[in-house]
Amino acid sequence: SGTAANTLVDFGITGDLAHKMTLRALYRLEKRGLLDCRIIGVAADSWTLDHLVEHAKEGIAASGEKIDDEVFGRFVKRLSYISGDVTDDSLYAKLAEELGPDARTVYYLQMPPSLFGPIVEKLGEHKLLDGARVAVEKPFGHDLDSARDLNTRLRAVLAEEQLLRVDHFLGKSPVIELEYLRFANLALAELWDRKSVSAIQITMAENFGVEDRGRFYDPVGALRDVVQNHLLQVLALVAMDPPAGAGADDLRDKKGELLRAVRAADPKNYVRGQYQGYLDVPGVAPDSDTETFAALRLEIDNWRWAGVPIYLRAGKALAERVTEVRLHLHRTPKLAFLPKGGEAERNQVVLRIDPDPGLRIALTAKADQTADWTPLTLDATFGRELGEPLEPYERLLQAALVGDAQLFAREDSVEESWRIVQPLIDSPSPLHVYERGSWGPEKAADKLGHGHVNWHQPWMPDEV
Ligand code: BG6
Repeated sequence: SGTAANTLVDFGITGDLAHKMTLRALYRLEKRGLLDCRIIGVAADSWTLDHLVEHAKEGIAASGEKIDDEVFGRFVKRLSYISGDVTDDSLYAKLAEELGPDARTVYYLQMPPSLFGPIVEKLGEHKLLDGARVAVEKPFGHDLDSARDLNTRLRAVLAEEQLLRVDHFLGKSPVIELEYLRFANLALAELWDRKSVSAIQITMAENFGVEDRGRFYDPVGALRDVVQNHLLQVLALVAMDPPAGAGADDLRDKKGELLRAVRAADPKNYVRGQYQGYLDVPGVAPDSDTETFAALRLEIDNWRWAGVPIYLRAGKALAERVTEVRLHLHRTPKLAFLPKGGEAERNQVVLRIDPDPGLRIALTAKADQTADWTPLTLDATFGRELGEPLEPYERLLQAALVGDAQLFAREDSVEESWRIVQPLIDSPSPLHVYERGSWGPEKAADKLGHGHVNWHQPWMPDEV
């Protein structure tokens, strides 16, 4: 879709996300021989380049990555650093000089979203956007109106192809697999609609709380933090029709189309929870009404999915850390050859996104020597069978650098997903307190579901 960049300008390189994720991802790309650009860090801190290098090294090591000095040396040669105030013209003059005439640039904005507009406008005024791309971190807006305003402001200076909205879930290998698994396999494709599927559940459970992110999290909550973006992006890939080509917009057209068909959520089908102890997290308001658990039911008004309930659930401080997509199939007709004319269990198809990605097909079979049903599962673990994947940030940075927009959220899907959750923001349902380490406010959440949709038993990786 674009020409490869030879320069990455990282706004916010001294910040937390860079320290925890970006620098490590760049280092790993270097190690794989996949990095082919200069890196110019920009931030307000008046650091020396040496200080930045030390900080990077420490962050990469803290992530558990073993540092190879030769690789790290090559990585450091690419780095330079400019400090300054992003609202100040002198910073952009310095940047222009550092970039020189031949730069083909990707700007990566790891900054508070309130600065996206001002930075992009300054880059435009200083003529630094020709042929460039701009990647922006989440959150993209706070609600539908603010997301629209942000799109309008950025699009006044940038063409859509130049704007890459980061959602790191789109960089996860099992999420990328969805398109392949669904459409390259008749065995899956043929059952992927209302004729076979009775419900879809997407669960993102985390077994840790908000910890040191109270100040960020409290004004946001689970719905905005992970449902509007990550889970609805995953839903779009789970439920879309097959793309008509290999271009970034072929896929994104289908995702946009799917999200357009999702009815705006009904607050009656929304359950909010907050874990006990959340109010003691530093940075959280003492009387905070913010949800750390969100469960909702959606409906898709299209030919493929009409009448199939879609359940999304996300929460912090739950029993397990697991993210999965689960399709429940309809029951077979009664089986007359069974002693009691019995009913088999429903089949399920499970895609585990985290941890240890894989695919499970849950069947029922006859237990040997009895006439009873017993579960039989076909499990494939991607890491073992498909090879070690790039990490999400490696993949996304690489895609931004080579100009592959497919892995980024397009304007329409961002606005559609805000439209879907907006009624829940406007009329939040009551908050239920739940215990840490539980499955959230289960009773309340069960009310959303048909009886058969048990979501308390995710497919967990085998103990090793
Ligand atoms: C982030 C959210 O976008 O995704 C966090 O802000 C959440 O609250 C995180 O913990 C989960 O990402 P992952 O890749 O660790 O599952």
